[in-house]
Amino acid sequence: MHIHKVIFDTDPGVDDAIALYFALAHPQIDLVGITTTFGNVTVDQAAINAQYLTALAARHIPVTKGIGKPLVNPGVAPPDFIHGADGLGNLPSRALTKGAMDPRSSAQFIVDMACAHPGEITLVAVGPVGNLAMALALEPALPTLVREVILMGGTIVEPGNVSPVAEANIWSDPHAADRVFQAGWRLTMVGLDVTHRVVTALSLFEKIALHHRHPATDTLHHAVKFYTTFYSGLHKHLDATPGCYAHDLLAFLYLVAPDLFRTETGCVRVATEGLAQGQTILDRRPFIDYPQSGWSLNQPQTQVCMDVNAPACLQLFEETLLTAWLGR
Ligand code: RIB
Ligand code: CA
Repeated sequence: MHIHKVIFDTDPGVDDAIALYFALAHPQIDLVGITTTFGNVTVDQAAINAQYLTALAARHIPVTKGIGKPLVNPGVAPPDFIHGADGLGNLPSRALTKGAMDPRSSAQFIVDMACAHPGEITLVAVGPVGNLAMALALEPALPTLVREVILMGGTIVEPGNVSPVAEANIWSDPHAADRVFQAGWRLTMVGLDVTHRVVTALSLFEKIALHHRHPATDTLHHAVKFYTTFYSGLHKHLDATPGCYAHDLLAFLYLVAPDLFRTETGCVRVATEGLAQGQTILDRRPFIDYPQSGWSLNQPQTQVCMDVNAPACLQLFEETLLTAWLGR
């Protein structure tokens, strides 16, 4: 059984929290660090949340603070109407937890870990990817040092969620995203084409919370309740049966069960400005040597998830979260 050594680059965020707890519960995932970024919340709040969620689960994993704004574009206010002002559905109170932040920047942590474990680290990135872009700048050989990168972000055929063509993580730092897509590492994009196929019901989180009766799963249940309210206002089918898209979870589901996904491979580029800001464009005709710069036949390739076995994903999630993974 292969155990994946993972650095989780994240902006928790409710679906980030769902993904984190799946990772902590899954026996094939060894979470060696959590690097945080701005996005659903400020980077300060993201780091606080990452520490809080891991402490609640009695797991001691290094947490670093990373980039606080996009590389080039001006930043925007976090979407508190989706994740709550605190990123976890406005928790009424927080338990007292202990834990010190790792003093390194997220980018430095990624580089240090990749150099210490060459060929072993998988980066699972589920927020705007400035930390990965900064790590590439610090260590240009990074693509040869990490095992693979799995990125929740982007969309090819499915409409976007922050504009008709753009997904939030890519839109939030399109310059960083284009650098990450063009870095030349083994890269898989898990975007809205698949995350919008998998609805996690609120009732499932209630079942998990009742099963464990633990502060960690109670906190997750609370956060998901807030998050599903946003989604029920947005989509009719999520109003009838409360549920949500657990976008970031799918990056980990891909890591441990890639056979549940259908992929296509090609060059992905990101539109960095204008009406199409954040659009992820996949060259689906690699037999044509386009004359426009940036689309030559030897551009780095990305594996893009285009379809998914949703029932099998939901079963894997439920089975994993119902195991005895929580410390006290
Ligand atoms: O578009 C979905 C992504 O944006 C997820 O990573 C979610 O957490 C938000 O950051
Ligand atoms: Ca996220």
